[in-house]
Amino acid sequence: MVDHRISFPTADYCVTFPRQFLWGAATASYQIEGAWDRDGKGESIWDRFSHTPGMVRDGDTGDRACDHYDRMEEDVKIMRQLGLKAYRFSISWPRVIPGGSGPVNLKGLDFYDRLVDRLLEADIEPFVTLYHWDLPQRLQDIGGWVNQDIAAHFADYTAVVARRLGDRVSNWITINEPWVIAHLGHLTGEHAPGLKDRRIALMVAHNLLVAHGRATRTLRENNPLAQVGIALSMRHIEPADESQEAADMARIRWEEEAAWFLDPLFKGHYPPGAWANFGADVPEVRPMDMATICQNLDFLGINYYTRAVISKEDQEVRQNKSVYTEMDWEVSPESLKDLLLRISDEYHLPPIYITENGAAFEDRVEKDGTISDESRRLYLKEHLLNIRIAMEHGTGLKGYFVWSLLDNFEWAHGYSKRFGIVRVDYKSQKRTIKDSGNWYAEVARNNGFAAEKAEYERVATAGSPA
Ligand code: FCB
Repeated sequence: MVDHRISFPTADYCVTFPRQFLWGAATASYQIEGAWDRDGKGESIWDRFSHTPGMVRDGDTGDRACDHYDRMEEDVKIMRQLGLKAYRFSISWPRVIPGGSGPVNLKGLDFYDRLVDRLLEADIEPFVTLYHWDLPQRLQDIGGWVNQDIAAHFADYTAVVARRLGDRVSNWITINEPWVIAHLGHLTGEHAPGLKDRRIALMVAHNLLVAHGRATRTLRENNPLAQVGIALSMRHIEPADESQEAADMARIRWEEEAAWFLDPLFKGHYPPGAWANFGADVPEVRPMDMATICQNLDFLGINYYTRAVISKEDQEVRQNKSVYTEMDWEVSPESLKDLLLRISDEYHLPPIYITENGAAFEDRVEKDGTISDESRRLYLKEHLLNIRIAMEHGTGLKGYFVWSLLDNFEWAHGYSKRFGIVRVDYKSQKRTIKDSGNWYAEVARNNGFAAEKAEYERVATAGSPA
């Protein structure tokens, strides 16, 4: 069990992190690169989806996005200015292999090659995500993630990237947020490819896990020293009241969302309760699949934004006293601590990175050109405070990546939601570091920040893992 005792500081507290702690920021290819059809890049499912009327708010597309493809050097300079120690970015599969399998587009690989070089020159550790949702459309045409052949295609693509970048990149994230891909892409249809079928969604989730396992092997074959992980989206799921029914509902939701991935990855089987609930919709599991999925990982990436409070009627309950972000996600920093303590307790986990955490709030552009975003700064600070406390309780955490470096294309919301610590004026493509970015740079420089004693005590004692 986790030890919840804690010694309180006597004065305002300097929240310090271990010397090797990595301060980073994250982005994803489709959300920032633009250049959607340049230099031989193939079409992705997000190109197709955003070009389909009615799928993305205001008809926004990633055609230009933050123009990062042409402004990469400037963006790395900004990272350096921020004092980032690590940068998590993703590779666009159709930029590297336009048809998903087959011929390699060297110009596409060259782009990431240059990015890695610029990062290393700036003393910034690259964390490469191989799949952050922009599947080659040609693979979608033959079934996409529903087609079992996809794991082999993903492994081939992984080998191409690993051979080109593996001499300089050590840290690899296979897949970003399989739950979101399966759920929003194949059950609710809010994301590409826009399907709505639970059986398909569960098959997709399974094939994503198998693809993760295949890619893990491929990375290690190509580079025995590779550090390999996966990034899982996770909400802490909490019951709305003390009743047994609410606790049961919260447990089921947890199993369907978080444990559906954690259990196969770290225990080698699906959670039995959720498996039974899904009935005939459960995926076909072939004999070697679970061994492929459940391999030792070097780290686990967690993307955390919010919690879910579940009633006995299985409804998500809105919290009237809480702050909600522009995404309508509840700000719940203590739940991040609870989540970290819970999973450290329930699983035998490798070290953890928070691979995404951040908030969409409206910025205020001041007359002098500075950008005020106090809500975002507070969001980051409160979450970091909770992370630090989870670490004191023994959660092995090695780094933190704020989502996001830049304001960018927020999927079905288009450009209407800003997550960046750097503001992007989409017309001029001018970048301006926001107040939160300047604060974060200070945190990275000092390896910590000051918190008031009262704040620290409140966070240290609030809540407890379910
Ligand atoms: C996560 C995604 C990321 C971004 C944030 C807000 O689910 O991984 O691309 O959209 O949400």
